[in-house]
Amino acid sequence: MLLRSDLIAALAVTAGIGLAMQSTSTTLSETGTVAIDASREVSFVNEVMPILEKHCWECHSEQSAELGLKLDTYEGVMAGSDYGTIVEIGDADASLLIDMIASGDMPEDADPLPAAELDVIKAWIVEGALNN
Ligand code: HEC
Repeated sequence: MLLRSDLIAALAVTAGIGLAMQSTSTTLSETGTVAIDASREVSFVNEVMPILEKHCWECHSEQSAELGLKLDTYEGVMAGSDYGTIVEIGDADASLLIDMIASGDMPEDADPLPAAELDVIKAWIVEGALNN
């Protein structure tokens, strides 16, 4: 089990930039608005799922699974696509899920996700990609 401080350090390292502590929250400049509230965990069900529903389910769900990728259940997200996993637990930068969104490749033919939504998914991965 990772400690909260380890998670923040890992995020700072993977972001490759300096770390500035501000009481309970961590702000990483340069990447824009990476602000992780260290006083609580991101919830997969309440925070990550709604983002995936809004932007991804059209093409990645039980009904329509491009590349076999289903993002409408925790199991589907962790199972990944026909090519393999898209979430590297604890390492957002190594996760194809983050890569595809950050590069603007996904969602296909649509506007890129707001940075704040990407940050939620990143934080969820860094915190251990829990089914919470
Ligand atoms: C309009 C349809 C569409 C939407 C919406 C969409 N995708 Fe995709 N996605 C595709 C298609 C088609 C592919 C396979 C071809 C490709 O990689 O471009 C793909 C491939 C991927 C892959 C690569 C899987 C692999 O193993 O190579 C990931 C990861 C992914 N999508 C994530 C997402 C996420 C996350 C969202 C929402 C933010 C999203 N997609 C929204 C159509 C879509």
